[in-house]
Amino acid sequence: MLRTAIVEVRAWEAFDSRGRPTVGCVVRVDGGGSGRAIVPSGASRGSHEVCELRDGGARYGGDGVRTAVWNVTGVLAAAVCGLDAADQAAVDAALQAADGTAALERLGGNAVLAVSLAAMLAVADETRTPLYRLLAGDAAPLLPLPMVNVVSGGAHAAGFLDIQDVLVVPVGASSFAEAMEWSWRVRAAAAALLEEQGGRSALVADEGGLAAPLGSNEAGVRLVAEGIERSGLAAGRDAAIAVDVAANQITARDGRIQLRAEHRVLSTPEWIDEVAAWCDRYPIVSIEDVLAEDDWTGWAEATERLGAGRQLLGDDLFVTNVDRLRRGVADGAANAVLIKPNQAGTFTSARGVVAAARDAGYVPVISARSGDTEQAWLADLAVGWRTGQIKVGSLTRSERTVKWNRLLQIEADHGAAAEFAGREALADNTRRRR
Ligand code: PGA
Ligand code: ZN
Repeated sequence: MLRTAIVEVRAWEAFDSRGRPTVGCVVRVDGGGSGRAIVPSGASRGSHEVCELRDGGARYGGDGVRTAVWNVTGVLAAAVCGLDAADQAAVDAALQAADGTAALERLGGNAVLAVSLAAMLAVADETRTPLYRLLAGDAAPLLPLPMVNVVSGGAHAAGFLDIQDVLVVPVGASSFAEAMEWSWRVRAAAAALLEEQGGRSALVADEGGLAAPLGSNEAGVRLVAEGIERSGLAAGRDAAIAVDVAANQITARDGRIQLRAEHRVLSTPEWIDEVAAWCDRYPIVSIEDVLAEDDWTGWAEATERLGAGRQLLGDDLFVTNVDRLRRGVADGAANAVLIKPNQAGTFTSARGVVAAARDAGYVPVISARSGDTEQAWLADLAVGWRTGQIKVGSLTRSERTVKWNRLLQIEADHGAAAEFAGREALADNTRRRR
């Protein structure tokens, strides 16, 4: 038998960083190697993501994943045992076929992804190859430009702000380590400013960002802009700003944007005007989910209006799904796509979206979830797939720092030969159309 043939699949109910149950899984291969994966989970999920199977009922307030665990140890284990884990496409095809639905509704995307990831990690273990190197093949590894959460709102911070994230993007850094150091400086300066304004920097949100009732959404953006200034970095040249609106969360049934923190309700054109005004005032280089997931027309308008010199990033819009990405490309919606493996359900389908994005001139940004885990594989995916950008949350909490630490280590291991993506990784309509 092949050393990398799958001989055993086990699973259990684990916890994510928010303390909610999630699927943990070990895949063992014939040579004795094994891979262990714990699946992340979002709070502001897009409705077109693959299914996250939860038990309902009384256990864990309905959030238990016992059924998903049984699906792993039963149907899915039977489907992959004997297959070569090194043939990831075949493993993922078998997992998908066992479920039989596009959205993985029968067995659960959380069950399927656990096996898919654990199989990949088992190959890295068995072949004693760092995961990023396994994924990169002949290509050189590439350290990504990070987006680091500074101020949180929305579903990650008790609705203190309506927009979900205001992040720093250290665009002028010349290495990943410098990018982290500069991001730290901005976060520390923003925390100090918040304290001076009478706020509390001890309260951190789900992704480790500052959580504070700042009164208005613009005040959240301004705090990060002032943090950049206070840190001594040049706004726009050294450090810029990214915003994740997570508009699904604040779009009313009639399609209007509800800014509860400001007691205002805006139409789509009014909202685009508002964001355009922020773009005039602050060094914003990336805007994620500026509108809701099915507002294709609004997205095309927003991309036209805001996308010159700026990244328009689709998260809930695309949900790491190649068909939705193709629709976006056809409609001129967004110019970049967030890649979250658990939106896609398998490693292979997520990688397919990275490839499709590149073909279309869209930029991939790999991302953690707000309910993440103590595992670092996402960092290896960023480097091995050469995504060029990564979004992991803030600089506190171990489920975040484990990924930053992995990237810092990979860069240190490569010394002067390490390649860092930098500013060029950002999407920009003017560049795309050239
Ligand atoms: P989620 O949010 O993981 O809670 O869905 C992350 C994001 O919107 O980028
Ligand atoms: Zn998002």
